[in-house]
Amino acid sequence: MVKICCIGAGYVGGPTMAVIALKCPSVEVVVVDISVSRITAWNSEQLPIYEPGLDEVVKQCRGKNLFFSVDVEKHVSEADIIFVSVNTPTKTQGLGAGKAADLTYWESAARMIADVSKSDKIVVEKSTVPVKTAEAIEKILTHNSKGIKFQILSNPEFLAEGTAIEDLFSPDRVLIGGRETPGGQKAIKALKAVYANWVPEERIICTNLWSAELSKLAANAFLAQRISSVNAMSALCEATGADVSQVAHAVGKDTRIGAKFLNASVGFGGSCFQKDILNLVYICECNGLPEVANYWKQVIKVNDYQKNRFVNRIVSSMFNTVSGKKIAVLGFAFKKDTGDTRETPAIDVCKGLIDDKAKLSIYDPQVTEEQIQRDLSLNKFDWDHPAHLQPLSPASKKDITVVWDAYEATKNAHAICILTEWDEFKNLDFQKIYNNMQKPAFLFDGRNVVNPQKLRDIGFVVYSIGKPLDPWIKDLPAVA
Ligand code: NAD
Ligand code: UDX
Repeated sequence: MVKICCIGAGYVGGPTMAVIALKCPSVEVVVVDISVSRITAWNSEQLPIYEPGLDEVVKQCRGKNLFFSVDVEKHVSEADIIFVSVNTPTKTQGLGAGKAADLTYWESAARMIADVSKSDKIVVEKSTVPVKTAEAIEKILTHNSKGIKFQILSNPEFLAEGTAIEDLFSPDRVLIGGRETPGGQKAIKALKAVYANWVPEERIICTNLWSAELSKLAANAFLAQRISSVNAMSALCEATGADVSQVAHAVGKDTRIGAKFLNASVGFGGSCFQKDILNLVYICECNGLPEVANYWKQVIKVNDYQKNRFVNRIVSSMFNTVSGKKIAVLGFAFKKDTGDTRETPAIDVCKGLIDDKAKLSIYDPQVTEEQIQRDLSLNKFDWDHPAHLQPLSPASKKDITVVWDAYEATKNAHAICILTEWDEFKNLDFQKIYNNMQKPAFLFDGRNVVNPQKLRDIGFVVYSIGKPLDPWIKDLPAVA
C-alpha cells in the first residue's frame, strides 16, 4: 500500500488529501499539522473549514484510508510520498518584506523531513512557492539526508475555495514538474499514477521543475489581471453610462478571450492572488526585470484603487460623511461559499468606513464575530502573525457589531453594502428592509447581486459597480 503524508491540514491540504483518499482506496493518506485545534476539528463533526461537499468526502474515508494526526514525525518517516502544503504568506519583516514569500514554514518542514526520514522519499511541493524553491529544498534535504535519496516534485494546486471539491474531482489540469533525470522521471511517474486513478491522462501535464513552479504564479497573475482589467473598465463605465456587465458579456463572447473571470467587483480578495502577484513582482525585481515587475504590480494597484473607489462612493453619496451612521455590511468572506476572510476586500472597505466614524453592523453566514473582530484589528499583512495583534482603539471596537441575520443588520441602517455575493442576498425581502431603514436608504452593491432598477422602484438610492449611475449619485462631484 502506497503511503502518503501531507504536512499542512489547511484549505489545500485537507480537501486535496480527502479527495485523493476517496479516489484511491488502495492508498493510505495521513494529513498532519502542528496545530492541535485544526487536527481536532478535522477529526470531529465540525470540520475546520467550510467547503461545499467536503463533509461527505471526509465522512466516506476518515478512519478507513484517511487520517488526521499531530504526530507529524511518525507519519512523515513512514510515508513514501510527502506533500508539503504549509502556508507561504507574504513576508512581513526583513528583506523583501511586503512582497517576498515567507518560506519559514516550508524550510522547517523540509528540515524535519530530512531529520526523521529513514527511507527514500518523494517530496511534493503543494504550497505555492517562488520559482527555484525546489532547488533550495533539495539542498536542505540532501545536506541533511544521511544517505537517503529525495526526489523533489512541484505539483501546484489550482483549486478555488468554495468550489474546491468540484475542482479536485474534475481538474482542468494536474501539473507535475520534476527533474529531467531518470530518478526525477520515475518520481513523476509515481505521482502521476496516483492522479491517474480519476484524472484523464491528457489532463496530467508533466514539465520541468521551474516551469511547474512558475506556471502556478503565472496562472494566478493572469486570473487576477482579468479581474483588475474588468474593474478598471467598471470605473470607465460609470463615467460614460456604459454597463460593465454588458461590456464583459460582449468582450467575453470572443472565444480568444472567454467569459470567465470577468465579473466586476469591489476587488479581488483571498489568500492567493495578492500574495502570489507580490511574490512574482519580487522575483522579477530580483532578476533585474523592473518593467515586468511594474506591469504585474499594476494589477494590485488597480485592486486597491477599486476598494478605495467603493468607499469614496459611499461617503460622497451620503452627504460626504458617514460619521455616526449605521451601515449594514452584508458579506465579509472574500467570496461566497467559504468562511475564509484572508485578504477579503471587506476588511479594507470596513476599515475605510470606520476611519470615517461609521457604525458597522456586519452579517456573513459563515464568518464568526471573533474572526471579523480579529480581521478588523490587524494591520495589513499581519493576518498570519497573531502575535503582532494591534488592539482596536476602544472607539472603533464599539462601532462594530456582528449579527446573525441580514434583517437585523439592516434595521435602522442608513445604508447597506453588499461585499460578498452570497446567494441568499439575492432573495432578501428588500421592501421589508427598506421599510425598516433610515431615509434616504442607500444600497451599495460591490458584487452586482441586486437588480438596481427593482430596488430603485422600492425607493433605494442604488450604486452598483460599473452600472449606469443613480441620478442621485450622478449629480454629485466625481470621485477618484
Ligand atoms: P493554511 O494556512 O490554511 O494551511 C497551512 C497549514 O500548514 C496550517 O494549518 C499550519 O498549521 C500548517 N503548518 C505550517 N507549518 C507546519 C509545519 N512545519 N508542520 C506541520 N504543519 C504546518 O494554508 P492553505 O490555504 O491551505 O495554503 C497552503 C498553500 O497552498 C499556500 O502556499 C497557498 O498559497 C497554496 N494554495 C492555496 C489555495 C487556497 O485556495 N487556499 C489554493 C492553491 C494553492
Ligand atoms: C484562486 C484561483 O482561482 C485558484 O486557481 C488558485 O488555486 C487559488 O487562488 P480563490 O482565491 O480561492 O482561487 O478564489 P477565486 O474564485 O479565484 O476568487 C478570488 C477573488 O476574485 C475573490 O474575491 C472573487 O470574488 C474575485 N473575483 C473572481 C472577482 O472579483 N471577479 C471574478 O470574475 C472572479
